[in-house]
Amino acid sequence: GLPARVRVHEVGARDGLQNEKGTVPTEVKAEFVHRLAEAGLTTIEATSFVHPKWVPQLADAEQLFPLVSGLLVALPVLVPNERGLDRALALGARRVAVFASATESFAKANLNRTVDEALAMFESVVARAKTQGVHVRGYLSMCFGDPWEGAVPVPQVVRVCKALLDMGCDELSLGDTIGVATPGHVRRLLTALVEQGTPVETLGVHFHDTYGQALANTYAALEHGVTTVDASAGGLGGCPYAKSATGNLATEDLVWMLRGLGIDTGIDLDRLTATSVWMADRLGRPSPSRTVRALSHK
Ligand code: HMG
Ligand code: MG
Repeated sequence: GLPARVRVHEVGARDGLQNEKGTVPTEVKAEFVHRLAEAGLTTIEATSFVHPKWVPQLADAEQLFPLVSGLLVALPVLVPNERGLDRALALGARRVAVFASATESFAKANLNRTVDEALAMFESVVARAKTQGVHVRGYLSMCFGDPWEGAVPVPQVVRVCKALLDMGCDELSLGDTIGVATPGHVRRLLTALVEQGTPVETLGVHFHDTYGQALANTYAALEHGVTTVDASAGGLGGCPYAKSATGNLATEDLVWMLRGLGIDTGIDLDRLTATSVWMADRLGRPSPSRTVRALSHK
């Protein structure tokens, strides 16, 4: 059966805004995060402590984090290496995320490393975070398809998942970075992971909606017992280092489906929609979320 409750891991402020052409002012980002918390999101990925030249849109992480860190919600931040971890810990971050790739092409494009070099870089990050009691999420990109390499074999994905869990990640987020997965792919990967001993409670799913499959994929994951779903308010997002990555699954679309299924999220859909409409005004273009459009045109 389906779970009774789902935890939404909101990535709009990070995955969404990292892909904007223009840089959103820090105060607008801070207001966005505050509004998301008021709408009932309990896990809000705030920003990334990556190299500012690689992701200039999030170069204000030091300025932003103190403006949101007083909120009573979980505020994970991305850290690729020890330098990033130092920056996050200096500001009191209690949750971090490392981000690996299942494919060599994306590891190179996103981290300037091979898959295994990137894993080696994360070892010390995860170990140090754990000694400080900091929660660690491990992202894994290109779990289904890669823009350069095409379909990604399940065993290749499973290997990197295991490596991330073995080094101490508390949870994994399975990324469909370019949105090519379909429910059959999702079933095959989740079945393989669970058969090889990965507790389903440690798994989250991270779908991009490029081919309009994100909700169908989410439903397939729920049927496998997954209860953590990544989404981005208003469907903001993409990834600057992956060709053809468009927006994430919109949080409103997700909440609409979950509400219809009787699955609790604690999210106030009207407040969330109002937040995405407000953000769309700041960005100067309408939200791509069908649910935001439907609810805001009533
Ligand atoms: P590199 O060029 O190999 O860096 O980049 P390096 O280790 O050789 O260091 C070079 C210089 O950068 C050094 O300075 C470092 O101190 C500095 P120098 O000694 O030359 O003066 N440096 C830093 N400065 C600030 N903060 C840091 C940092 N690290 C090094 N953290 C690196 C390697 C990993 C840094 C780079 O590739 C990088 O920052 N990549 C981040 C890319 C990124 O953020 N991508 C988007 C997130 S992933 C995603 O969106 C996918 C996801 O949504 C899931 C999905 O959809 O699949 C999560
Ligand atoms: Mg993403």
